[in-house]
Amino acid sequence: MQSRREWFKSSIGLGGLMMTPSILTAEEIKKYNPRPLSDIVKLSSNENPYGPSEKVRNAIVDSFEDACRYPYEYILKLQNILAKKHDVSPESIVITGGSNEALRVTGLAVADQGGEIVAGKPTYLALMSYAEAWGGKINWVPVDSNKGYDLVEIQKNINEKTKMVFIANPNNPTGTLLEKSSLSKFCEGVSEKTLVFCDEAYYDYINEPDYPSMDYLVRQEKDIIISRTFSKVYGMAGLRIGYMVLKPQLADKLFGEYSPYGRNKIMAQTNVLAVAAAIEALKDKDFYAFSLKKANEEKDKIYKLLDYLGLKYVESSTNFVFFESKKHIDILSKEMLDKGVRIGRPFPPFYEWCRISTGTSQEVDRFVSAMLDIYS
Ligand SMILES: Cc1ncc(COP(=O)(O)O)c(C=O)c1O
Repeated sequence: MQSRREWFKSSIGLGGLMMTPSILTAEEIKKYNPRPLSDIVKLSSNENPYGPSEKVRNAIVDSFEDACRYPYEYILKLQNILAKKHDVSPESIVITGGSNEALRVTGLAVADQGGEIVAGKPTYLALMSYAEAWGGKINWVPVDSNKGYDLVEIQKNINEKTKMVFIANPNNPTGTLLEKSSLSKFCEGVSEKTLVFCDEAYYDYINEPDYPSMDYLVRQEKDIIISRTFSKVYGMAGLRIGYMVLKPQLADKLFGEYSPYGRNKIMAQTNVLAVAAAIEALKDKDFYAFSLKKANEEKDKIYKLLDYLGLKYVESSTNFVFFESKKHIDILSKEMLDKGVRIGRPFPPFYEWCRISTGTSQEVDRFVSAMLDIYS
């Protein structure tokens, strides 16, 4: 007789996708470079399991020729390309070592002379951790009952000491996306009073058509910083490259004056190989579309599993899913690790919630099997 578990897998179509050696053709494997299945499947850091793409890998190999050079002129070329993409001047683009460097240097700049930052909780911590470590104060505003940012409360918490408001949209770890007109209205209004930082690391995963980047406010010369990364949809987390978009006067003030050698308060910047990879990645539309398609497929598989197990989750606009584990995350983490799956860390105050990244199909199958064992 079929077990409940087997019935589930076959009845909702998981069976067809699970336990298959690979659903990719040899050509796709070459082009999209899925990571190999390891003993412990790491679904804890929202990395893209594909990439860098074949085209990007070739561009990196070619760029070794230039690796004896300092990266400035190569960075300048990327700045020009990104300036066109965001319709701003090249001086408005600041290339960083992953968007983490953007977040950290901004945290430092704001904490200088006792800055206060208003931020939703939970969220991505890099900027606030740096600000706090250097003497800044954070005014945390809990997310609302749907796990989305509470923009009304955030606005109420802005006072004369506030130096910045931080928003990650879509947010990590919740995966939530703000309603587009409330976000625009919020950023337009708040940037008149204080600096707004809008972290758009997961912007590409937004499924809603015509969802605006807040980069239009940079074009309107508002006090706003946008950050983006090549770590997620482009599959280049290990290469460390990201960037900020902001008006040049603001960049001069926070990060040092513009020069073709970079702004002197940006420490790592990046390297020649990562720049070559980023330039190629922006052209590789095929890999980009594949990345998104796969993340959506695996998210759907995770949703089906959670529906079956009766575990609540947040509809995600990212490459991960936040769900109610109904047990302490430390306990679930141990149980999952015993079954070869590493899940996300605790995100206070949601100790009975878990964040799981989309992996390759095989990796997510491992997660599904482990969950079925633990919860069925
Ligand atoms: C919201 C958010 N911003 C920024 C980052 C940092 O990415 P990176 O430094 O790789 O660009 C992450 C990484 O997970 C993230 O979730």
